[in-house]
Formats: sequence, structure tokens, C-alpha cells
Amino acid sequence: MKKTAAAMALAVVLAGCRAKDVPEEKRLKIGVSVYDSYDTFISELMSDFNAAVAGSENISLEINNAAKSQQTQNKQTEAMITGGCDVICINLVDRTSPRKIIDLAQKNNVPVIFFNRELVEEDLMQWEELYYIGADAEQSGVMQGELAAEAFQDMSLDKNGDGIIQYVILEGEVNHQDAIVRTEKCVDTLIEKGYQVDKIASITANWSRSQAQSRISVLIESNQSEIELIMGNNDDMALGAIDAYKASGTDRADWPVIVGIDGTADGLKAVADGEMYGTVFNDQKGQAQAMAALAVELASQKNTSKSEREKYIRLPYRKVTKDNIRDYLD
Ligand code: GAL
Repeated sequence: MKKTAAAMALAVVLAGCRAKDVPEEKRLKIGVSVYDSYDTFISELMSDFNAAVAGSENISLEINNAAKSQQTQNKQTEAMITGGCDVICINLVDRTSPRKIIDLAQKNNVPVIFFNRELVEEDLMQWEELYYIGADAEQSGVMQGELAAEAFQDMSLDKNGDGIIQYVILEGEVNHQDAIVRTEKCVDTLIEKGYQVDKIASITANWSRSQAQSRISVLIESNQSEIELIMGNNDDMALGAIDAYKASGTDRADWPVIVGIDGTADGLKAVADGEMYGTVFNDQKGQAQAMAALAVELASQKNTSKSEREKYIRLPYRKVTKDNIRDYLD
């Protein structure tokens, strides 16, 4: 895969933070809590994070699964802090409830890197040693809308020939910043590009492939054959839609255009196989490397002073279709 300049710079920073920057005598402990280790994107991001810190004998890593419970995550945070973690990385379960974690961390002077599930800015500004790593949700929604607009340059995809795109949105979790912003921006972008659109359904499927499959199967069964476009807030849900069309026995030529977001391994494969028109690559490797670099720097309290550090690190999204899929498959 081609690396962006930013990702390459981060990789270099990380390499620079490895064993040689960590004093031999000090073993650094990084603690992580993820909202749900069964989430495909998060589990791919964590394996990249593992890879990014692996190889340094001076770092020990503890990864916890909060299993969708904020209470569990709060307890895990307490245990990581009392267990001696020098820095903790938190993928919030409830992005509106970081208070307990922030209080615990500040009281014990342990820096926190929040990632992927973005807390509100006011909360991040509560203490100087709080950081966020992720991506710009709006950019992903706009890019997904652009992908759909590009597909419909071929008006034969307007199956009923009414000049209007009949679409379905598969939404992630209620209240998740990515779900809210992606849903709004993909549709706005299609309209800005001059298309008329008609919403058939907006379905919450919680980032889940199986939930998306069952909900789309119901739509297909209830004879919603007029669906021309399905936009999934993530690849797993777009893949669930593909699963539903396969299970229904619908002719491949009669499937709607399906687009996703993430560029997970299965998502990229579906683009390569021509089942998904395109996806928006959510740079999990770049985010994992940036988080590893910052975690090591914070844990070792080296280099830049607190006031010079960026509180937000956002990696850019990229559009992927069959035209550039080769750059992403390796
Ligand atoms: C999004 C990602 C989803 C899901 C979610 C979890 O950024 O696109 O697939 O992983 O984060 O917070």
C-alpha cells in the first residue's frame, strides 16, 4: 500500500521513539481499553497498534475489552492506573461520558489518548494531557457521496429510469459522531453534485454486518426492488447488504450500487471483486502508528513540551475504487 507523506512521517517518528529513545532502565507500560473488541475496524486497528509497539523490549502493552459497557471501561481505567500504566489509550464506549476517566487520569497524572470515538472538544480541553487520534468524519461522508455520484454517471444504474436515485442508508450507532456526520454528508454531497435523491429507508445497524444483512433482507423480501443505492456508514454494514443480496438470489445485474467506509480487509476484497463500488479508506494503520508514537512519547515524557503537542491528530481518508484498489491490496 502507498503511504501518504503524513503516514510516512509518523512511521519515522515511531521508529525514532523505539527502544533507542526509551531509557534502558525504564520499562514503559501502555494500557488500552477498546469499546468492543469484536468491531472489525477496531480489531484491525489494534493489530496494527500491536505491530507498531512490538519489537521494543522496553514497552509492555495491556489491552482490555470494555464490551460496550462504560462502567466496565471506567473500572478498567482505574485498574490500569493503579497497575502502573504510564499512559492510557481509550476508545470510549460512550463518547459523552469521559468524565470519570478524565478525573482519574488527572488525579494520578497519567496522560490519556482518546481514539476513534470522539469526545466533545470541551471535555478534551479539561486537562492538558488529554489527546485525540482519529479522522475527520465529515471528509469520509463527503468522499462517500462523491463515490456514489461518480457511480451514477452511468445512468443505467437508475433502474426505474425516473432520474432520481432511490437510496438506503445503513447507519452506525445512534449518537456516534461518525454515524451522524457521514449520514448527513454523503446525501448532501450527492445533492450538491446535482442528483435528485429519494430516501427509501435509513436503518440503524450498529456497525454490524449481521444486523445490516437481516435488515436489508427484510427490505428485499418486502419487494423493495427499487433500491438503487446503499450507502453504509462502514464497510461491515455494506458487506451485510451484499450478503443479503447474495442470500436473496437477486441477479448480480439487479443489485444496487453499494458503497462503504473503512477499507477493512473484507471491504477492500469486495471492491476488488466488484461487489462494492467503492469504499473510503479510514487509515487504521496511520492512526495506530500515530497513537503508538504519541503513547511512547507521553510515557517516556521526552521530547516536545506539553504546550507544543497537538491535542488532535487526524489522519486523512482516501477514496478507493476498482481503479486504485491495487494500491491497497498487499
Ligand atoms: C468508525 C468505523 C466503524 C466502527 C466505529 C467504532 O470510525 O468506521 O467501522 O469501527 O468507528 O467506533
